[in-house]
Amino acid sequence: MLIDLKNKVVIVTGAGRGIGRCIAETFAAEGAHVVVTDINQELIQDVATVFAQNGWAGSQFLCDVRNSDQINAMVAEIVKSNGRIDVLINNAGVAPAGNVETLSEEAWDLNSDINLKGVFLMCKAVIPTMKAQRSGRILNAASFAAIMPTAGGSAYAATKAGVHFFTRALAGELGPYSITVNCYAPGMIPSGINDFAQSAPERKRRLLDTLTLRRWGTESEVANLLCFLASDLAGYITGTMVDVSGGKYATQLPRAPYEAAEAAGLYTFDD
Ligand SMILES: NC(=O)c1ccc[n+]([C@@H]2O[C@H](COP(=O)([O-])OP(=O)(O)OC[C@H]3O[C@@H](n4cnc5c(N)ncnc54)[C@H](O)[C@@H]3O)[C@@H](O)[C@H]2O)c1
Repeated sequence: MLIDLKNKVVIVTGAGRGIGRCIAETFAAEGAHVVVTDINQELIQDVATVFAQNGWAGSQFLCDVRNSDQINAMVAEIVKSNGRIDVLINNAGVAPAGNVETLSEEAWDLNSDINLKGVFLMCKAVIPTMKAQRSGRILNAASFAAIMPTAGGSAYAATKAGVHFFTRALAGELGPYSITVNCYAPGMIPSGINDFAQSAPERKRRLLDTLTLRRWGTESEVANLLCFLASDLAGYITGTMVDVSGGKYATQLPRAPYEAAEAAGLYTFDD
């Protein structure tokens, strides 16, 4: 069985760094035409250089997912140049945190405008094209926080839970046109949005002890899931959230089996 993404026109928002960049590069390496978009021109330029070096197909747009004028101009240009849009990956996201009592309205709005409204605006812009094609894949970044929120991360969790239900509602609207809409919930992937990799040993141990697969996730593990969900193989999957978190809280006391494996000489803790 082959995941064939060749020549698919794929938009990835927030593709300048982190998971989004990995998604963009993974799809490009699979032969897709990848539209790299981000709010940061320097990052886009950097990705463009890597695309050119590898001979990958694609284009780049400076685009703030909060700005419907920029989005509509970008989508019009993509349709003009490529004639279609096969996949939209709404990856762009931020996570300003703080307890509700002290969280600023600006921090709340940033979460809300980028993580949730940005997804809405991007979807709204590509729907007419996908409807006319009678095909399309929309993949929205939720988070494990949409399953279980972190105290101090209310704004982020609220937006990501919002992305989940937005995804389901939109899947219903677009079913008649064979457009699937899904979201995905990464767990703990070290990147610019978090400080997992810089954790002091005690915090690292505490975080890893929540995982059934006891290690940080990688950006590639998210990108690989999306390659499948974006492909023709995933045509009967819609309106769902796929957890790519290493089984975070999937089991009770997930450390215990590791201790048993260590006692049997079959596992070594490295933290
Ligand atoms: N890293 C994790 O562990 C994790 C876990 C759960 C969910 N997620 C989600 O995955 C997505 C990517 O996360 P990441 O860890 O790669 O983050 P990151 O901070 O490394 O990258 C985010 C990218 O989005 C871009 N961006 C920010 N605001 C934007 C805007 N208004 N318009 C366009 N682009 C904008 C940034 O410039 C950056 O390139 C986010 O939606 C995040 O919530 C990440």
